[in-house]
Amino acid sequence: MPPPGADDESAGMRLTSLLFVPADSEKKFEKAKGVSADGLILDLEDSVAPPNKAAARQTLSSWIDAANGKRDWTFWVRVNPLDTGITADDLKAVVRPGLDGIVLPKSNGGQDVETVAAMINPLEATAGMPNGHVKIIVVATETAAAMFNLGSYAPAHPRLVALTWGAEDLGAVIGATANKEADGSWTQPYQLARSLCLFAAANAGVQALDTLYADFRDPDGLEASCQVSRRDGFTGRLAIHPEQVAGIRRAFAPSEADLALARRIVTAFDENPGLGTIGLDGKMYDIPHLKQARRTLASVG
Ligand code: COA
Ligand code: MG
Repeated sequence: MPPPGADDESAGMRLTSLLFVPADSEKKFEKAKGVSADGLILDLEDSVAPPNKAAARQTLSSWIDAANGKRDWTFWVRVNPLDTGITADDLKAVVRPGLDGIVLPKSNGGQDVETVAAMINPLEATAGMPNGHVKIIVVATETAAAMFNLGSYAPAHPRLVALTWGAEDLGAVIGATANKEADGSWTQPYQLARSLCLFAAANAGVQALDTLYADFRDPDGLEASCQVSRRDGFTGRLAIHPEQVAGIRRAFAPSEADLALARRIVTAFDENPGLGTIGLDGKMYDIPHLKQARRTLASVG
């Protein structure tokens, strides 16, 4: 459940687990459909080599057409970044009924969302889709300039539903030779990017999705890391391998104890409408706790 401020349609959009699938692999796409991810992100950016991009775009168009209809996952495409000059070609191929949204890598700020939204508008109209249907998730920390523009996503464009952050490309930008400490935690520059992504998403009233966990053969590490993500305020996470999806879903689901406490907090405030602060089991709860409790309950419907 997103923070207040996001529109109704995006509030209903579950983005807890989004699985990346290279757009040039039909085998992986077929497999990905069956793994119960909330969304699949077909990637036209880094996982498709430049000579193969045109063919991947064409294939993707036909997959989107074929997937138009009832299914329990949303269809996303990671397009190439604006500075490549080929984003428009990507959008032209994929904005069609069946597409739910695009992921914009290497975004430099809110202005890039405006630019991409303006490119989508006429394509949506031509395709006979309702204006605003195609949502945008931004990868918000992949350039140096982006780090200084994170406040510019607010007020959120109506298409913007989530911010995520990227560690791999940022390393090349700053010249870092590693992004993890010996104990597996992020080094300082990446902790900053991750935290600022959380604040930027909260500021814009959209969901914050944690970046991928690269070691896809380490399910325990992934789940522990997702517990930390959820604790810190992320509402979901990117996956790169089918086997990561179930762990992400489990880690982001509130526990029975979380739900029970949330219900008690909401009930206590409902029964005392004049109060701004209540005590339960010797602990103080006030309006931010009430908002958080409502969010927890809404996340399970
Ligand atoms: N989506 C769908 N299926 C996937 C998949 C994915 N992201 N990653 C792996 N699979 C499939 C494999 O094709 C294989 O299928 P099979 O059992 O029918 O042969 C099965 O899952 C097991 O895969 P595995 O052998 O463990 O991994 P791999 O070595 O084949 O692939 C990666 C490893 C990293 C190349 C692969 O996971 C991948 O392509 N990830 C996504 C990369 C991406 O999109 N990056 C862009 C964002 S950073
Ligand atoms: Mg990248």
